[in-house]
Amino acid sequence: MDNQASVVSFAPGRINLIGEHTDYNDGFVLPAAIDLGCSCRMRKNNKRLLNIWADDIDEFYSFDLKTKQRLETIPTWFKYFLGVFQEMSKQDEDLSGIDLNFSSTIPIGAGLSSSAAMTCSLAIGINELFSLGIPKKELMYIAQKAEHNCVGIQCGIMDQFASIYSKAAQVNLLNCNTMTFQPIPFELGAFEIVLVNSGVSHELASSEYNKRRKTCESVVEKAKVRNISIKSVSDLNLDTLNMLKPALTDIEYKRATHVIKENNRVLKAAAALQNSNILELGKLIYDSHSSLNEQYEVSCDELNFLVDATKELDYVLGSRMMGGGFGGCTLNIVAQEHQRLFRQKISSSFQKIFSTEPEIYDVKISEGAQILSESN
Ligand code: GLA
Repeated sequence: MDNQASVVSFAPGRINLIGEHTDYNDGFVLPAAIDLGCSCRMRKNNKRLLNIWADDIDEFYSFDLKTKQRLETIPTWFKYFLGVFQEMSKQDEDLSGIDLNFSSTIPIGAGLSSSAAMTCSLAIGINELFSLGIPKKELMYIAQKAEHNCVGIQCGIMDQFASIYSKAAQVNLLNCNTMTFQPIPFELGAFEIVLVNSGVSHELASSEYNKRRKTCESVVEKAKVRNISIKSVSDLNLDTLNMLKPALTDIEYKRATHVIKENNRVLKAAAALQNSNILELGKLIYDSHSSLNEQYEVSCDELNFLVDATKELDYVLGSRMMGGGFGGCTLNIVAQEHQRLFRQKISSSFQKIFSTEPEIYDVKISEGAQILSESN
C-alpha cells in the first residue's frame, strides 16, 4: 500500500433496551446498534504524526508520536483516537502515523455511545489500512482499553460490543461474563422506540461512573473475606446478598441490589420480547428506571421528569433513562399511531418546567461497524 491508500470506516452508536450498569459487573445487557454513527476517512502519512480533523466542529489536532505529550494538554475528543492508536501500536510497533478526518451523527452526551462509535470506527479502520488482521473481538477490547487507559473511564464492554457485533433489526442478549450472546429479532408490533434527550450532558468521566464500579468491586472483596467466593456482584443472589448485608455499607447494599435485580429484568425482558409481550417489556423498563434512580442513584431531575410524564400517557408502555446516566436520553416504548402526540406532549410539559425543548429521536436498529470504502 502506498501513501495514497485510504480507508473509510463507520461504527454506530447504540441503544440498550434494558440492563444498565450490569456490564462491568459481568451481568446481562440487551443492546443494539442504531443508524447514527461515526465515519473516519484515513490514510497513512508515513511520519510519526497523528493528524486528526474533527470536521463537525472544525478543529484540528496533531500529535507527535515520538514525544511524550501530557494527556492533560490534549483535547478530550482527540484522546479517543490517541487511545486506540496507542493500543494498536502495541500490536505493531512500527505503525506509521495517519491523517484522518472524522464526523459523527450521534448527539454528544446523549447516552448513545458516541465515544464507542469513534473508537470502534478507528480500530476497524486502522486494522484495514495496515492489514493487521486483528479479529473483531480483539478490536472490541482495544476500543474499550482506549477509554480505560487514555480517557480515564473504566467503562464496561456493552457499547463496544454493540457497535462492532450488531446486526440490523435485532437486539443482542449479551452475557458479559462469558461474552456469549443471543440475537433476538426486534419486533415491537404496533410500538416503537423513541428517544428523548434531557439535554443534560452526562460526564461519566467525572468520577461518578468509576465510583459506582469501585463500590461494586468493594462488595466482591467483602464477600471474599466472608468466604462467599464470587467473581462479580452478578454471582450473588438476593439471599447471598442478605447474608453479606451486615458487612456492607448501605450504599454497597443498594448498588448490589440493583445489579442482581437488573440482571433478572434483562432475562425477563428478553423472554418478553421473544414472546411479543410488549406490555411486560414496558413494565420491566419502568422498573429498571426506578432502580437506577433509587438504588443505583444515576438518574437526575430531568430524566425522572421525562419518565414520570409518560406515566399519564396510556400509549406509552415503558420509559427509562438509558446508558451511564446523570443526563442523556430516555428510551420510550410508544404506540406508533400516537408518536406525534407523544412528541407534542413531552415537549410541552418538559418546556414548561425546564424552559427548553428536548430533542426527540426516532432510531432504527442497524448493522454494526463496517468498512465503507477502500482505495489504493
Ligand atoms: C456507559 C458505559 C457502558 C455501561 C453503561 C451503563 O454507556 O460505557 O459500559 O456501563 O454506561 O450501563
